[in-house]
Amino acid sequence: MTIEVRACRPEEVARGLRPIFHFFGSTPSEDALTMFDRLMPPGRLHAAFEDGDAVGGAGVFPLELTVPGGRVHAAGVTVVGVLPSHRRRGILRELMRAQLDDVHERAEPVACLWASEATIYGRFGYGMASLAGEIDLARDRSLYAQPFEPRGRVRLVDHDEALELVPPVHERVARETPGMAARSRDWWELRALADPEWRRRGGGEMVRAVLEVDGEPEAYALYRLHPAFEHFASVGRTNVIEALAVSAQATAEIWRFLFDVDWMSRIEAHLLPVDHPLFFLLAEPRLMRFTLTDALWVRVVDLGDALSRRSYLGEQEVVFEVRDSFCPWNEGRWRVAAVGAERTDAAADLRLDVSALGSAYLGGFTFAELARAARVEEVRPGGLVRGDELFCGDGAPWCVEIF
Ligand SMILES: CC(C)(COP(=O)(O)OP(=O)(O)OC[C@H]1O[C@@H](n2cnc3c(N)ncnc32)[C@H](O)[C@@H]1OP(=O)(O)O)[C@@H](O)C(=O)NCCC(=O)NCCS
Repeated sequence: MTIEVRACRPEEVARGLRPIFHFFGSTPSEDALTMFDRLMPPGRLHAAFEDGDAVGGAGVFPLELTVPGGRVHAAGVTVVGVLPSHRRRGILRELMRAQLDDVHERAEPVACLWASEATIYGRFGYGMASLAGEIDLARDRSLYAQPFEPRGRVRLVDHDEALELVPPVHERVARETPGMAARSRDWWELRALADPEWRRRGGGEMVRAVLEVDGEPEAYALYRLHPAFEHFASVGRTNVIEALAVSAQATAEIWRFLFDVDWMSRIEAHLLPVDHPLFFLLAEPRLMRFTLTDALWVRVVDLGDALSRRSYLGEQEVVFEVRDSFCPWNEGRWRVAAVGAERTDAAADLRLDVSALGSAYLGGFTFAELARAARVEEVRPGGLVRGDELFCGDGAPWCVEIF
């Protein structure tokens, strides 16, 4: 039986989503189809068809991804799946081929994704580009290390008010934070503020809290309560979905609010950046049980364009010798400096696979770290130091949401 990999026509989207929904244990609901219809433009879902049925699929949300110094068009890769009846016959490989060629033709210089398993995407040139932490803290051990005076007022707001107050706070943070993406109104309505039953996982309705200082929103938190009892005493949890703030003071205030929700016994949060201010806000940071995992993976698709669109520190220049077997148009030597990236015949400072460049792109990992894991080879002495001076950012990349 032959397999045909191609972009889905609009009437085929439900079919193209079925392979990944198989792993969610369901078929796409009407709500899910509406969400994909509004957020995934026609032609962005590829599928592998056999006899008219899709046995694999892979999609893209077009994103505006923040990178050091600006934003780039990025392919937010999602809904990748191959039915278990067709696994390990090269269908994912063909989907990745079709998708990355399409991303390249559309002039999106990078692709990014959350990997269900870290073993899948390195072979296609993706590199782990950020880390995320989860916390699980007893409420009665959530004291702050320093005296703290709230200045604002937290209000619980309904969906419609949140839709007005929350996006500007997100945008102020997202614009400054590599790894975050701009959100359209549709994205807010259909994803970030949507509260379908299946997302609650035993918890309550989504609560939307907004911190206002002098009447202006400066922070927000989206969270759920998970009430539970043992021997009549609460062992309930406050589950923080997303909490963002525009200043240090607002960060302290919104998290103090979350830690102080009465009756709950623990506070959980996921997808926090590795340099979250809670490490310094809390008197006993180790009690957060901050646990790390790989987060956003980045694939540099058009190397010259991608590297020219982010900013760099200092006057250094570095020559990379890049291997890229899956997207060979990137192979060769590239000089990178504050003015951007260009092909060069000059001698290389660093030799690396394109996946390592993806790991360094957002500033989440240094070339020195990558070299210690044999992901980068220093060809000319001083190359690692120069590369890190050039690429280093002023904070860890942070992707607040799995897509
Ligand atoms: C991951 C998945 C899409 C792979 O599809 P597939 O069609 O079996 O993959 P392919 O046959 O094209 O494999 C391509 C290569 O990746 C490897 N590979 C595929 N899935 C892998 C996995 N989960 N772990 C390790 N290696 C994997 C294959 O061994 C093969 O290696 P090779 O190039 O050295 O020969 C499929 O297993 C799946 O749908 N999994 C569940 C849903 C999921 O995790 N989706 C990803 C969401 S981010």
